[in-house]
Amino acid sequence: TPRVFSGIKPSGGLTLGNYLGAIKRWVDMQSSDMESIYCAVDLHAITVWQDPEALKNGTRELAAGMLASGIDPEQSILFNQSQVPEHAQLAWIFNCVARVGWMNRMTQFKDKAGKNAEKASLGLYAYPSLMAADILMYHATHVPVGEDQKQHVELTRDIANKFNNDFGVDFFPVTEPVIEGPGMRVMNLRDGTKKMSKSGESDMERINMLDDADKIAKKFKKAKSDPEGLPETVEGLEGRPEAKNLVDIYAGLNDMTPETVIAEYAGAQWGKFKPALADLAVAKLAPISDEMKRLMDDPAEIDRKLARGAEKARAIATPILEKTYDIVGLLRS
Ligand code: TYM
Repeated sequence: TPRVFSGIKPSGGLTLGNYLGAIKRWVDMQSSDMESIYCAVDLHAITVWQDPEALKNGTRELAAGMLASGIDPEQSILFNQSQVPEHAQLAWIFNCVARVGWMNRMTQFKDKAGKNAEKASLGLYAYPSLMAADILMYHATHVPVGEDQKQHVELTRDIANKFNNDFGVDFFPVTEPVIEGPGMRVMNLRDGTKKMSKSGESDMERINMLDDADKIAKKFKKAKSDPEGLPETVEGLEGRPEAKNLVDIYAGLNDMTPETVIAEYAGAQWGKFKPALADLAVAKLAPISDEMKRLMDDPAEIDRKLARGAEKARAIATPILEKTYDIVGLLRS
């Protein structure tokens, strides 16, 4: 049976990239008949140091963001990773299946570790193995993520295949990354060649889910564009990363294709398009941030929801881990 799994790190606030590349698409998938499991991956967050209090609150805020966006904890399973210890247990098994050479090819590790990889945590290096455990723990078949996670999902496929081969079983499914739509790669507002990220140095380069209307308007107004204005066709966006990004964001927010956006704004100046984009973003994001703030007023209720989600997740995870241990030859008595 098809099953969806995806996750977000609770480090720093949610960005428009997380929303368009992940959460919004999860909400859309929820209405399909696939079972879906969504996770605040706190064990992934601590691969770089997190302030402990901030991590707890960030986990709640992320859960609030998912709930406010429309993830329904009755329809989907919503929990935080560390409450299901099976993830870490399966990750160890996968550490023994994955090869060092595979990890060495991970571009995200190279980006995050920077020049001084010797000083990166061992956890950051092994991160993709834990991510494979997240996914395969539930025998998930579909993983909706932004473009930047593609390599990690492909590695998950390699781990599943190698495990199956090593033990002569057909146990872990080969997972499909689901990367589609104009929101899969939301770029930095000041530099269209870099992705929008919660850890970027300037706040002006990203839209945060909790930004108010004034801030959103200001950030789009100051966003880098070019003197040309909007082209007559989407081909006219080629080689213009900032222009393409603004059109893609509009398309993603409004469930349109970039073609339809261009058809509507062909030849318009940025002075016309940017305010329209800001208005659209506020219209879509304000109800979510209002609801997030409301949910954050009752952290105990968020904690209860996560605990209930974790219980449901464990009910799936426990038998799969037991079976994995058995396949590997770990004695249970
Ligand atoms: P994270 O926390 O960096 O991002 C969460 C999700 O948001 C997407 N995303 C973006 N999409 C489009 N444009 C952007 N600028 C942008 N920035 C972030 C990411 O692609 C991701 O889908 N390793 C993962 C978390 C993870 C996970 C998993 C995901 C752990 N285990 C299992 C799927 C399945 C990560 O760091 O995402």
